[in-house]
Amino acid sequence: MQEVIKKLKENNQEHLLKYKNELTQDELNSLLNQIKITDFSYLEDFKEFKRSQNCVYKKVKDEITPIEALTLSEIEKNKDKYKQIGLNALKNQEVGALLLAGGMGTRLGSSDPKGMYNIGKTKEIYIFQRLIENLLCVVKEVGEFVPLFIMTSEHNDASTRKFLKEKNYFGYDENYIRFFVQDMAPCIDFNGKILLESKCRLATSPNGNGGWFNSLLNNEHAKEMLNKYNLKWLNIFAVDNVLQQIADPVFVGATIANNVQIGSKVIRKVDPYEKVGVMCKKNGAPSIVEYIDLGEEMALATDERGERLYNFGVILNYLFEVETLYRIKDQKLPVHIVTKKIEHINENAQVVKPQEPNGHKFEMLCVDMIELADSCLPFEVEREKEFAPVKNKTGVDSVESAQALLEKNGYVL
Ligand code: UTP
Repeated sequence: MQEVIKKLKENNQEHLLKYKNELTQDELNSLLNQIKITDFSYLEDFKEFKRSQNCVYKKVKDEITPIEALTLSEIEKNKDKYKQIGLNALKNQEVGALLLAGGMGTRLGSSDPKGMYNIGKTKEIYIFQRLIENLLCVVKEVGEFVPLFIMTSEHNDASTRKFLKEKNYFGYDENYIRFFVQDMAPCIDFNGKILLESKCRLATSPNGNGGWFNSLLNNEHAKEMLNKYNLKWLNIFAVDNVLQQIADPVFVGATIANNVQIGSKVIRKVDPYEKVGVMCKKNGAPSIVEYIDLGEEMALATDERGERLYNFGVILNYLFEVETLYRIKDQKLPVHIVTKKIEHINENAQVVKPQEPNGHKFEMLCVDMIELADSCLPFEVEREKEFAPVKNKTGVDSVESAQALLEKNGYVL
């Protein structure tokens, strides 16, 4: 208790024990434990964020330059060679796949994990099923299972595990699957006070998709599989792109053959201003510039052949060299402070479901990991064949648009 009180005092968060006298011993223990394990360093990030908002000096501008991508035509020329290298690595079980499924999927508006969403029309086709069946195609071709890690969050871990078990992992061998829960971050109000979700629980949210490697290492069961197969590469992928190829032998082979630390699947942008992160170099290191930071001049810049210089958007499908992951794992990623509606209890202990944003969440992003490596290969894929994200219920990047793309690719829904 004393240790917790000290931590709260030092961080100006004593209000978190306001209801301590109303709690049962178990509830109090659970609250004390949550406070003990919650990372309060995010509060320092918030203070820094506030300071920078008030700062009159502008940060020194980064130097953004283009990065060369391996285009479809270049891939085609070396396809057989790349495929052979990739198949060998997969046969030797040097490549693992890692599904990032810890997100809240708020835009889709379902209370279930996003992977449980049924995108079928005349039959049931769940997002998890689509992804696993894609991976099973590679398993079939290679003749070996690809070790599969699934990152969940505290919010969706139990339901994800239960669902996949009930569905018999859609035919994937359970022995090659390891779940791990990602770290959580506290949610704060606009004054930097951590919100309470109930009298005995802090409001927390998943800390973004950037902390996945450390979260994996914190889970003994998952780490054991990483070591057991002595995995050299990890292909991480988003839960919502129902068309992407996972552990794609050509992609794996191209990344290995080009002697880089990261491979990144990219698509050609539909227009210069498309809202996707774009591969580039930042101060000489591989990086991803957000569409908002690209600016008109760079968005339109072309080379001597008239090709746009910043034309390849990322789709959250990366192949990371494990050795590099170990090397960069202790480097701090930037913390993004996002403004959100956060459910909490008010000073009268009543539950509030805000209609307007009322505070901040903290997220670290996978895109920021790229900069920590020395080299990255942008690997072009055909947009129509590999990019069908399900972010929203309708409109752009929605269930409807993903269904249309799946049908275009011959899937019967
Ligand atoms: P998104 O950025 O689309 O976020 O995640 P989201 O939480 O799924 O959806 P919205 O914004 O609330 O609608 C891209 C990928 O990163 C994973 C998601 O599960 C998805 O595969 N992710 C995101 C995590 O694994 N953890 C996180 O904390 C955030």
